[in-house]
Amino acid sequence: MQKTSEWLLSFNSQQDQRIRSLLEQRKSKVAKSVTVSVTGGKGGVGKTSVSLKLSQEIAKQGFKVLLIDCDYNLSNTALKLGQPLSNDFFELVCGAKEFDDCLYKDGNFHLLSACNGSLDLFDSEFRLEDVIIDIMSSHEEEFDFIFLDCPAGITRDALTLNAYCDQRIIVVTPDKSSITDSYSLVKVLNSKFGVRTNQLLVNRYRTQSQFEKVVKTLSETIENFLNVRTQVLGGIEHIDIDASKFDSYFLEPAENSFHKNFLKVVNKYTEEISKSKADSEIYFSAQQTLEQEVQ
Ligand SMILES: Nc1ncnc2c1ncn2[C@@H]1O[C@H](COP(=O)(O)OP(=O)(O)OP(=O)(O)O)[C@@H](O)[C@H]1O
Ligand SMILES: [Mg+2]
Repeated sequence: MQKTSEWLLSFNSQQDQRIRSLLEQRKSKVAKSVTVSVTGGKGGVGKTSVSLKLSQEIAKQGFKVLLIDCDYNLSNTALKLGQPLSNDFFELVCGAKEFDDCLYKDGNFHLLSACNGSLDLFDSEFRLEDVIIDIMSSHEEEFDFIFLDCPAGITRDALTLNAYCDQRIIVVTPDKSSITDSYSLVKVLNSKFGVRTNQLLVNRYRTQSQFEKVVKTLSETIENFLNVRTQVLGGIEHIDIDASKFDSYFLEPAENSFHKNFLKVVNKYTEEISKSKADSEIYFSAQQTLEQEVQ
C-alpha cells in the first residue's frame, strides 16, 4: 500500500514536482484554511447541492468560505443559485481575469463557478488539478474553509484533488451503484494516494433503518477490506418534490425538518473541525517548542 509520503515521492514530471512542493509546504505548517472535497464517484448523487448548502450554512456561522466548482465545463453551481453562466473560469485559466473578479459573493460565502459548454475552455489545454491546487494554495490564508465541488468519476484530476484536500466528504445514496462507486473511490484513493480517512454523508435516504444500513454496509466493508477509517457526518432525507422546485427548496433556509436536520449536520461538522484544528495547533506548537529546545 502506498503512503502519502510515497505518493509525494512519486511525482516525476515538472508539473508534478510543483504540486509536490505545494503539498509539502502545506503539510509543514498549520494552514489557516481547511480544504474539503465533496466527492462520491457516481454522478447525480447530490455533490453540488450538498457542497453549496454546506458552504452557505458554514459561511452563515461567521467562517469565510470559498467554494470552487471543479466540474469545470459542466458547472451547475451558479445555475442552482439562479446566477448567470459566464466564461470567467476560462478567462481566469488563461490569465485574462483576476481571481477576485471571478467570484460570486454573498456575505462570507464566495463561489468560483466554472463554465458550462464553453468552446474556449474545451479547446484549451490545461490540467484541472494544477489550476485548482494553485488557486487553493494562493488563497488559503484568505479563507477558513475551501470546499471543492468535485465532478463525478475516478479520473486522475478528481483523485488528485481529493488526495490534496485535508478532508473528503463522500456523498452516497442508498442505491447499490452509488455504494459500489463510493467503495471504489475509497479503494483507489487509498491504494494510489495513501488516503486513510474519509467522511460519509448519506443523501436521499427514506427511513432511518435505510440510513443505518448504508452506513453499516459501506463503513464496515471499507474498514474490513481496506483498513480505512470512515467518519459518519450524518444523513439528508429524500425530498419528495418536483425536480424544478428542488434547488430553491434545498438551498433556501426554512422552518422545516429538512433544514433543521441539515443544520445539525453542519453544527456537528464545524464543532469537530474546530476541535481537530485546535488539537493540531497544540501539536504544532509543542513540536516547535521541542525543536527550539533541541537547538
Ligand atoms: N435529498 C434529495 N432529495 C431529493 N432529490 C435530490 C436530493 N439530493 C439531490 N436530489 C436530486 O438529484 C439532482 C442532482 O443533484 P446534484 O446536481 O447536487 O448532484 P451531483 O452529484 O452534483 O451531480 P453531478 O455528478 O452531475 O455533478 C438534484 O437536482 C435533485 O433533483
Ligand atoms: Mg455536480
